[in-house]
Amino acid sequence: MVTQVQQDLTGKVALITGAAAGIGRDIAETYAKAGALIGVADINLEGAQETVDMITKAGGKALAINMDVRSEDAVNSGTKQLVDTFGGIDILVSNAGIQLINPINKMSFDNWKNLLAIHLDGGFLTTKAAVEYMYKDNKGGTIIYIGSIHAHDASLFKAPYITAKHGLLGLCRAIAKEGAPHNVRSHMISPGFVRTAMVNEQIPLQATAKGISEEAVINDILLANTLNKEFTTIEDVSQTALFLAAFPTNVFTGQSINASHGWCM
Ligand code: NAI
Repeated sequence: MVTQVQQDLTGKVALITGAAAGIGRDIAETYAKAGALIGVADINLEGAQETVDMITKAGGKALAINMDVRSEDAVNSGTKQLVDTFGGIDILVSNAGIQLINPINKMSFDNWKNLLAIHLDGGFLTTKAAVEYMYKDNKGGTIIYIGSIHAHDASLFKAPYITAKHGLLGLCRAIAKEGAPHNVRSHMISPGFVRTAMVNEQIPLQATAKGISEEAVINDILLANTLNKEFTTIEDVSQTALFLAAFPTNVFTGQSINASHGWCM
């Protein structure tokens, strides 16, 4: 029976991909503050080490892991490095991602494949590596995919991103079914736009491409379908990730939690 929801991850081991910056970094710091031991995995090792230094300075424990989520060898060896260092893996946050804005008739096949590889191959490879340990003795664990409003909705010129995020929701649902007998649950968090580098870099580009002001990009595109014209904050996402990882039962699984100010319901 759940009497009180604790936001405590003491002694849990979490692997977070794309944790050298943005949302992944904030989830890493939030989990570390809650007592978890963190694998900060990223293709950007220098940024990953910065995240580790921030966690260590605040009294937490973390390990920087050089991981390109498109590479099976890198994912498997990085996951093993985490398990060898901290003794297991209880939580996976599959967060690494990129954005690409181009109409389909101008989209190169290489760019399409690369985006799908980062989001979908990355989701698959990290899940496979994590459940290898989570399935042992049905010890279980929590897997969180960072989705998007684009896992549920579409907008202009983001075909590979929309396709990837819809696919990731399929993976989340599949793992809920397959993982349940092993005590593994899966979640997706689907944020609206968050002011990380990924979005901040988009604003001037979209303004130039569409011949509109940056303010118009923000109000008419990025916040268009939010109910109160508000961005999702990085903390909205990391606190949701903490709630899900710390929740004491498996009652939530296989679903996407929309953190989008009503963009998706
Ligand atoms: P960000 O650009 O700040 O951080 C992305 C991180 O992923 C970077 O540290 C980057 O080095 C890493 N990365 C990229 N390719 C990689 C690879 N092949 N292997 C390992 N790491 C790799 O972006 P942000 O905004 O923090 O995005 C994180 C996740 O949240 C992404 O999956 C994104 O699609 C999703 N998201 C972001 C939203 C936003 O508005 N910023 C909204 C909804 C979802």
